[in-house]
Amino acid sequence: MNTYEIAAIPGDGIGVDVTVEARKVLDRAAELFDFRLQWTEFDWSCERYTQTGRMMPEDGIDQLARFDGILLGAVGFPGVPDHVSLWGLLIPVRRAFAQYVNLRPVRLLPGTTSVLSGRGADELEMVIVRENSEGEYSAIGGRHNTGQPSEFVLQESVFTRVGVERIIRYAFELARTRGGRVCSATKSNGLIHSMPYWDEIFAEVAAEYPEVHSEQCHVDALAARMVQHPDRLDVVVASNLFGDILSDLAAAVTGGLGMAPSGNINPPGEHPSMFEAVHGSAPDIAGKGIANPVAQVLAAAMMLEHLGETVAAQAVNAAVEKVLAEGAVATPDLGGTSTTEELGSAITEALRAG
Ligand code: NAI
Ligand code: MG
Repeated sequence: MNTYEIAAIPGDGIGVDVTVEARKVLDRAAELFDFRLQWTEFDWSCERYTQTGRMMPEDGIDQLARFDGILLGAVGFPGVPDHVSLWGLLIPVRRAFAQYVNLRPVRLLPGTTSVLSGRGADELEMVIVRENSEGEYSAIGGRHNTGQPSEFVLQESVFTRVGVERIIRYAFELARTRGGRVCSATKSNGLIHSMPYWDEIFAEVAAEYPEVHSEQCHVDALAARMVQHPDRLDVVVASNLFGDILSDLAAAVTGGLGMAPSGNINPPGEHPSMFEAVHGSAPDIAGKGIANPVAQVLAAAMMLEHLGETVAAQAVNAAVEKVLAEGAVATPDLGGTSTTEELGSAITEALRAG
């Protein structure tokens, strides 16, 4: 029997509630599909930060290195600046483990309605491939002439040939297994160094994949297109910042943030990959037990897929679809009155082998 060592980091706010449900679903999947999940839970969070001054211990990365996968809830809570939670946990993990792909599949699930009227499930299915290790999210820069009238800040971006090429190549490889279309998000009219470089490498890689339809689109126009003509998009490849914004937009035009999963992937498999919902810790509904656990359950299914448990992953996706299509158990964001726990249990009970 295959055994997988999984690190669970529930984090803050609703991250804790939805991770409990995702673990419940995965434990049931393990029973049904004959594999073992050995969980180790870490209390790394903003609460820990307020007690110890660190989001995770100094050797946190070393502690995580031995795991086959990481399931993360969400980090961030009022009282701790967001850049502390992000740079104290998420970004170090993504970078230390070379999780250079942030994969965000979005589709309209049965039983849910898109905010875009008249769109059916078959018209809304895309995946955002976001660069996850460099780009606009760089620590290079600083504040100068502090307190003077001449005060200014500099925030640099980093685009390396290796970094840009590997994310674009990943998008083309993925497109080959799906709809055969790649759209690159650019902004080479405004950003005159980084984005022309990105476009140049995109054209080079595209030439190696003549069977994949490729195009590039300025990110502002692409945002509009995602709302007006989402059916013309399949794989969207974007830099760190553009991908971050586009994937929340893509989530919003489908079922909302409560339904959008993501994976931080180390494609060669040399380090653990990390799976999480796109949403954050939602302090406005934290502690109320009403968060939608679907995004986290779908993220957990992506982890199973990544571990090679494809049949179990498909069964989890099917269980989610069944429960949503029936509509009897739904959290408030889906128009229902059910709790996080009730929706998690309904998905667990809907799981079937074969
Ligand atoms: P958020 O995603 O936490 O919440 C945005 C809105 O969507 C809120 O109204 C919330 O109630 C709703 N929402 C989100 N997930 C939901 C769910 N599963 N079910 C029902 N409703 C849901 O984003 P926000 O408010 O910008 O950030 C809150 C905190 O989370 C911040 O500290 C932020 O830094 C952090 N954050 C962490 C992320 C991570 O750990 N990867 C990602 C995004 C934000
Ligand atoms: Mg985001």
